[in-house]
Amino acid sequence: MGKALEIEGLNLDINGQTILSDVSMALEGGSFAAMCGRNGAGKSQLMRCIKGLRKPSGGRILLNGTEADEKARMKRIALVFQSAETQVVSQSVEKDIAFGPENMGLDKAEVERRVEAALTLMGLKEKARQRPQTLSGGELRKCAIAGIIAMEPEVILLDEPFANLDYPSTLAVIRALCALHERGYTLLVVSHEAEKFLFHTDTLLIMDGGSVMEAGSSPELFPKLRDYDVYIPSGAAFGDLTWLRR
Ligand SMILES: Nc1ncnc2c1ncn2[C@@H]1O[C@H](COP(=O)(O)OP(=O)(O)OP(=O)(O)O)[C@@H](O)[C@H]1O
Ligand SMILES: [Mg+2]
Repeated sequence: MGKALEIEGLNLDINGQTILSDVSMALEGGSFAAMCGRNGAGKSQLMRCIKGLRKPSGGRILLNGTEADEKARMKRIALVFQSAETQVVSQSVEKDIAFGPENMGLDKAEVERRVEAALTLMGLKEKARQRPQTLSGGELRKCAIAGIIAMEPEVILLDEPFANLDYPSTLAVIRALCALHERGYTLLVVSHEAEKFLFHTDTLLIMDGGSVMEAGSSPELFPKLRDYDVYIPSGAAFGDLTWLRR
């Protein structure tokens, strides 16, 4: 498989301040990538640029080998925000998941097929008719992810998907991410909580000071996280970096 996403020399200035500086990176199709880096490194701003919510000051973004403008990226790339509740808008879980595919103009049967598939994949079938406002934090995040996969995006970006989640909800989200990976989705998970999920990823990108400082295979690169103040339990081997085995 080729490169699903490529970023070349991306810059972002806000009010004369450099936020992102010459960011270059690539994601192989079907890869499960982690992006780590301290607070303020520029991870969320980079996600907003990739998605097309913010216009970079310079650089190129390619999808499947072809440069993609903001409109194309809005359609083909999904971004799950840190605060999933802002992404959930409807009266029931199933209606919320249907919202995206309906807006894409798909016919009713196709919308229903996609909602059913997303509910099953995220383990939310029993919650289909429940009001999103009554879901737990972990269920809500799974609902936001379900709504996004129903749009069948080429690349899924998740910004801090474990934030504010307790142990069972964290496990549920890690399982959901692994299920998406098995289905062949290209995933990029932004999180400083490397110890929770890094074992499941194949690619690690480390951001600092508005640039991608390191990129490579997760098992090889993870000891470097310490150099960038990202927490790894002392003495941990790569295989320990998951909460699914505790
Ligand atoms: N509108 C803005 N004006 C000025 N500076 C901004 C603006 N938005 C973001 N920044 C700055 O850009 C830098 C990168 O922010 P960003 O949110 O991308 O960091 P992050 O890596 O996601 O951090 P965190 O781990 O805390 O989520 C920060 O220093 C932030 O203060
Ligand atoms: Mg952030």
